[in-house]
Amino acid sequence: MSDDSRTSPAGAQPTAQPTARSAAQPTARTTARTAAVIPAAGRGVRLGPGAPKALRALNGTPMLIHAVRALAASRAVSLVVVVAPPDGAPEVKSLLDAHALPERTDFLVVPGGDSRQESVRLGLDALPPEYDIVLVHDAARPLVPVDTVDAVIETVREGAVAVVPALPLADTVKEVEPTATPGEPEPVVATPERARLRAVQTPQGFDRVTLVRAHETVTDDVTDDASMVEQLGETVVTVPGHEEAFKVTRPLDLVLAEAVLARRRLNDGF
Ligand code: CTP
Ligand code: MG
Repeated sequence: MSDDSRTSPAGAQPTAQPTARSAAQPTARTTARTAAVIPAAGRGVRLGPGAPKALRALNGTPMLIHAVRALAASRAVSLVVVVAPPDGAPEVKSLLDAHALPERTDFLVVPGGDSRQESVRLGLDALPPEYDIVLVHDAARPLVPVDTVDAVIETVREGAVAVVPALPLADTVKEVEPTATPGEPEPVVATPERARLRAVQTPQGFDRVTLVRAHETVTDDVTDDASMVEQLGETVVTVPGHEEAFKVTRPLDLVLAEAVLARRRLNDGF
């Protein structure tokens, strides 16, 4: 990159050019350092009784370890903060020690809270100051491909303050008037146009300052971090998501996750 003020003869006035160039791209974060926060403190009630969801095995390896490896696979991610179940931080630390992880990545473990939102905030509180870009990634999405992670980071580096991977929906979606009793017929109140809807995944990527401000400002219950940034009035953008970044929520999702891992092993053999 040229800098006219450096190449000018001594005593020459610096030209206005570098300033003009940076004004054209005011928010590009080309040299920013990236950390990932992985909320893993949930119980996994919808998966049924057993260990906390993130600690359950997929093909013999805890879901959390798959998720940590998926994020650490990106060369841009230099720190991973795992938010452990409130009483499970020592167990998570020993799990990280027991599994092979990239040398170039640092790891921190902090105990989580009662809600996902609180767990993410506790992860953000633990971030050292030198990280300007933060990814928030559900431990429950253990199979996200590295290309999706890199696409999110790249879009934040290019200047977006909040980025979500998103996919078009297969199902038509209805808005209903929910009834108090599960299983009762519910009146449909609207059918949003499917072509304008997206199912969003993680990792969601953020300018760190903006995400911290969102967590300090927004007190409503939310199910993703980007919606808090939306509530600040900031622009959130999507990048293409991936079908393998699905969230392990119900028992059938475990079957699908193990099938994806089996297919990957088969393909790796060729
Ligand atoms: N999470 C968290 N802290 C909580 C609740 C959820 O860190 N108090 C994390 C989960 O561990 C998961 C992610 O947020 O990685 C997405 O949440 P979800 O899929 O809803 O997981 P659970 O809350 O564990 O599942 P359920 O809602 O079925 O209990
Ligand atoms: Mg939950």
